Amino acid sequence: MPLQRTLSIIKPDAVKKQLIGTILQRFEQSHFTIVAAKMMFLSREQAEGFYAEHEGRDFYEPLIEFMTSGPIMVQVLEGEDVIPAYRELIGKTDPTQAAAGTIRADFAESTRYNAVHGSDSPESAAQEIAFFFTDDEICPATN
Ligand code: PPS
Repeated sequence: MPLQRTLSIIKPDAVKKQLIGTILQRFEQSHFTIVAAKMMFLSREQAEGFYAEHEGRDFYEPLIEFMTSGPIMVQVLEGEDVIPAYRELIGKTDPTQAAAGTIRADFAESTRYNAVHGSDSPESAAQEIAFFFTDDEICPATN
């Protein structure tokens, strides 16, 4: 299994509900190593840049509005096959379709307010990690 890194975002709804600790605990219980993390407010320009691939979709404006509505926590997680493993842990975008026990099944309200984001491929992970972190902000895992 390849050692991978993925970009994780705890979205404004989950930050507001004080779920950061609970969600990070699930990552660590899944043996993902947190190798970088920071709190931030996304500017409209940053949100539009991050979600540029969705420009023109009907959910684009609500998504940008939501992601700029409050602080987020971005992290880089490292682990064996962490990109698909993270997506499995969070569950489907629509929480009504997410498997029981996944983060979205437990904490998301809707397709819009869905608690977390994770990269969907090695290519997007590399791009998304570089969007938020410089190389020297990422700590090599020690375990
Ligand atoms: S797609 O078509 O598979 O590429 O889209 P999907 O992965 O389902 O969704 C892409 C991101 O858009 C968010 N989304 C929404 N935001 C606000 N309102 C509505 N209605 C809505 N529908 C989808 C969804 O949460 C995804 O965000 P990220 O951050 O990528 O998980």
